[in-house]
Amino acid sequence: KYRTELPRLPVMPSTGTTSFGGAQVDVYSIAARQFSQQILPGSYPRTTVWGYGVPGVAGSFNAPGHTIEARVGRPVRVTWTNGLVDSGGDWLPHLFTVDPTLHWANPGGGTAARDTRPTFTSTPDPYTGPVPLVTHLHGAHVTQESDGYPEAWTLPAAADLPTGYAATGSYYDAYKAQAATRFGAQWQPGSSTYQYQNDQRAAALWYHDHVLGMTRLNVQAGLAGMYLLRGGSTDLSPGVLPSGTAEIALVIQDRCFNSDGSLFFPTSRTFFGDTTAGGPWLPVTDVPPYWNPESFGNTIVVNGASWPVWHASRKRYRLRLLNSCNARTLVLKVVTDPLADRPATAALPIWQIGSDGGFLPAAAQLSQALIAPAERADLVLDFSAVPSGTTLYLINEGPDVPYHGGIPDTDFAAADHWTSGQVMQIVVGGAATDTSVPPAQLQLPAVKALGSAGQTFTVSLNEADSTVFDGAPVIGALGSLNADGTGALEMWDDPVSVKPVVGTVGAWDLVNLTVDGHPIHIHQTQFQVVSRTAADGTVRGPESWETGFKDTVIAYPGETTRLKAAFDIPGRYVYHCHILDHEDNEMMRPFDVQS
Ligand code: C2O
Ligand code: CU
Repeated sequence: KYRTELPRLPVMPSTGTTSFGGAQVDVYSIAARQFSQQILPGSYPRTTVWGYGVPGVAGSFNAPGHTIEARVGRPVRVTWTNGLVDSGGDWLPHLFTVDPTLHWANPGGGTAARDTRPTFTSTPDPYTGPVPLVTHLHGAHVTQESDGYPEAWTLPAAADLPTGYAATGSYYDAYKAQAATRFGAQWQPGSSTYQYQNDQRAAALWYHDHVLGMTRLNVQAGLAGMYLLRGGSTDLSPGVLPSGTAEIALVIQDRCFNSDGSLFFPTSRTFFGDTTAGGPWLPVTDVPPYWNPESFGNTIVVNGASWPVWHASRKRYRLRLLNSCNARTLVLKVVTDPLADRPATAALPIWQIGSDGGFLPAAAQLSQALIAPAERADLVLDFSAVPSGTTLYLINEGPDVPYHGGIPDTDFAAADHWTSGQVMQIVVGGAATDTSVPPAQLQLPAVKALGSAGQTFTVSLNEADSTVFDGAPVIGALGSLNADGTGALEMWDDPVSVKPVVGTVGAWDLVNLTVDGHPIHIHQTQFQVVSRTAADGTVRGPESWETGFKDTVIAYPGETTRLKAAFDIPGRYVYHCHILDHEDNEMMRPFDVQS
């Protein structure tokens, strides 16, 4: 631990500008490729990963990807290319075990069977064919053809694609035609060109793969990166906050490594403590043979380096933090002893000034930052009063289970203090000039409350267990609510039940009937958290760090989490749990914004 200096994520190089509708548009050409990267300390082997980068620009490929820097009011157009081919242009198989029994992209099923849940009469082998990809800009206010719909994927444009395979997902062609009409994009085989208008609040968004039934594997392999949207009336004037080298994006991921340096991801259903071991699962049961309900890593990777050390100066820093773990909620604290009993005592306050959708209305002084998968936290750490030479640690108290409330969580095991309980070492050096405003004195841009809600959408969060093996979760599913309070499960391909009307504000009641917390994400919009109602009827308001706009919120077990969301772009979008293992197995649903 603490042998690699914290990597800074460079800016993604743009490939030029164009104009559209009277505005200048920044143009990017970004491919996903396979390459090796030094994630473990230098004396250990390199790791084969997938990452984004710009073809032809040396050193631009990285996992996580370089940061896209965007300005409010200035659109960004990205051609996303599936470059998962070898040096000879032949398609590459997945790094991990692809479970073909989920409802998934299924390119090998051919055009007729793509995007389906296949049926099997015996345990199928994992899928080993070419890999479909589709990129989503998480948190973006975006038209449907540019949103990265899970069925709008494409295989790489490899010369050797097996015959009978579907080259694209079932939405690809329609969205290709819409992109041509809307902004003149001509999609080429293996690519999709999306446009992000950036007509939303300044915020830290992020991009990641979103293909149906394989998102957990593709993001685990490295397909994620930050997108920082700045400027406009919802940003602060330059110089108010720590900037330049004092502003650092932190992408935190938990991973597992084999001794040869390769990433480890479970190859069977029984890996994460499933007590119903004893496959083969099919045809006798409905249990997916390779998918696991959640995946947790025992190694923390920050900006693509395992357990880095950060040499900081005695001043303030702005940290743009993203939880890019598949399933782990992070509970972060700055302490002096990384092995201290949990809950550990914070050595330094954490100031949270923003979340998913931009600044909070007021800075919140916290002893810890709670960040579920896909959530972002805009934090200020102030080392100006810390003596030179002090060593601090950023630790994690978020457990190896879906976080279900309680701070810290009682499921945090002592053994984890050595592994996922540590994130980064911070060595505080000499004094430095700092003209930024202390967090307690910050005046943050206003957050305008959304108006009163018309429609209410009741969404139940459910877990379905195997009908054959007791206690084996088969799927997580969203649904509606029956009159008796039980969940009415809806599968991915069931008819759409949530239909907000353009230009209106709706309430969303997330009724969590499971024993786990689920970070629920809604596309297109930034919503407001209204309240959480516990089983005994107690109602509490949003946490201090949830008082701005959000696109992902933790729905705790046994509670109803109420949101307010406005939509102003008609089209097909999705809402889902952002535990990637859940969203890959039915805990995701389409919704239609109606004009
Ligand atoms: Cu971060 Cu639907 O995604
Ligand atoms: Cu979930």
